[in-house]
Amino acid sequence: MDKIIKIFDTTLRDGEQSPGCSMNLKEKIEISQQLERLNVDIIEAGFAAASPGDLNSIQEISKNINNCIITSLARAHKDDIDKAIESLKYAKHPRIHVFLATSPIHMKHKLRMNPDEVVEKVESMVAYAKLKCNDIEFSAEDATRSDIDFLAKVFNKAIKAGATTINIPDTVGYTTPDEYYNFITDIINRCPALKTVDISVHCHNDLGLGVANSIAAIKAGATQIECTINGIGERAGNAALEEIVMALKTRKDLYNADTRIDTKQITKSSNLLTRITGIKVQPNKAIVGANAFAHESGIHQHGVLNNKKTYEILTPESIGLDTNKLVLGKHSGRHAFNDKLIQLGYSLSKKELDEAFKRFKNLADKKKDVYDKDIDALVSRQKIEVPKAFELEKYVINSGNVITSTATVAIKKDNTIIEEVAVGEGPIYASFKAIEKVYGKKLELDDFSLNSITEGEDALGDAVVRLKENGQTYVGRGLSTDIIEASIKAYINALNKIKYTNQNN
Ligand code: KIV
Ligand code: ZN
Repeated sequence: MDKIIKIFDTTLRDGEQSPGCSMNLKEKIEISQQLERLNVDIIEAGFAAASPGDLNSIQEISKNINNCIITSLARAHKDDIDKAIESLKYAKHPRIHVFLATSPIHMKHKLRMNPDEVVEKVESMVAYAKLKCNDIEFSAEDATRSDIDFLAKVFNKAIKAGATTINIPDTVGYTTPDEYYNFITDIINRCPALKTVDISVHCHNDLGLGVANSIAAIKAGATQIECTINGIGERAGNAALEEIVMALKTRKDLYNADTRIDTKQITKSSNLLTRITGIKVQPNKAIVGANAFAHESGIHQHGVLNNKKTYEILTPESIGLDTNKLVLGKHSGRHAFNDKLIQLGYSLSKKELDEAFKRFKNLADKKKDVYDKDIDALVSRQKIEVPKAFELEKYVINSGNVITSTATVAIKKDNTIIEEVAVGEGPIYASFKAIEKVYGKKLELDDFSLNSITEGEDALGDAVVRLKENGQTYVGRGLSTDIIEASIKAYINALNKIKYTNQNN
């Protein structure tokens, strides 16, 4: 009988707090709903004390999620715990996640507390949280660089005060699989009460060992793994959910452990996160990289053609990676379109379906073959669309290799059409300058990229624009069979996100 390991997803907390990964409310809700479809056990929805916007987004996520535990992070302070409680008031299954550092370096230089004070704080704050919530997780930040006897003492107190999960994080990604295995085995011996609660691990990836350390911890007795989609997170990131889950599945012979994850939702979860953050995974990334199932060398191809198992230890289908299926064209009806959406895992309201069908018809007019990936790109964007404070009316470009590019862009803003002209190095840059003039404020263009959704001459161009305003990054995306239009739409989408975020924080 396989042991079931709980999956605690922290994409919306540890992931979201890493550079370039911040998300607006709509995006967080969309991610949390995908995490529920993926069937994670726990969603860490945020850090309520970080800002009123964070607290509000945990509440909104909680309203939309039925089957997962929702947790909110809190430092070991009454005020943080109160905010966490407030943020979880709509959660069907709430958990408060209290943390305090236990390593000598953190206690001395960050907390400026002595070890006795830390023990007292853990005990009193876990007990305080327990008064309001039955499900309490305590994390000893920087556990792997802590004195093991001291840590055992802290864990004993936390469990006595009511903690039901104890997390042993490798906060700075310092440990190695052997060392972590021994550390966890040893701490269970020194603190037998750990056998009465869930033992969690939370591994950062500074040495590229986050997943290996998490797996070693399972062997030592961990029953919960904290991880993120695509491994996003502070610095080098957190252990990647998809890698842990597929490693356990593929090597059940070694670990006798499994998770409740619906692995067919892995690709979709990874793509959604990339679409929202604009951060692509490296092509050779395990499980979800573009090349994870590509066999380039002749010898490999020959082997795979004879028998897939020669070079393939897991199948693309197992992670929901369907090949680029040809689906619909311009003669396809609403019924067939809706069937395809259901197959792709979408359930749209009538109004959303009307809008999606209109967009599909527009696309089918321009593109002969419409693939699953095209439909997925159209609909997933529609679901996270923010109100359009700025809308593209028209644009005209004058460009060539013997003239300076000129762009005229007309944008609807508050029901007025504003038209601006600008010149620049190339048509895209000129268009961005014209839009910036309409916006009326200088913005920093942090990054711009252009990719195609599928292959082929009439492929949809997918533009990503990252704009910076007041130190915050906003990711805009635009889709079109015309790359200049895709770029303009991406820039305008980023402006709309700036407006939406400022109104909702
Ligand atoms: O890395 C870490 O230690 C954390 C804790 C708050 C769990 O993120
Ligand atoms: Zn962390």
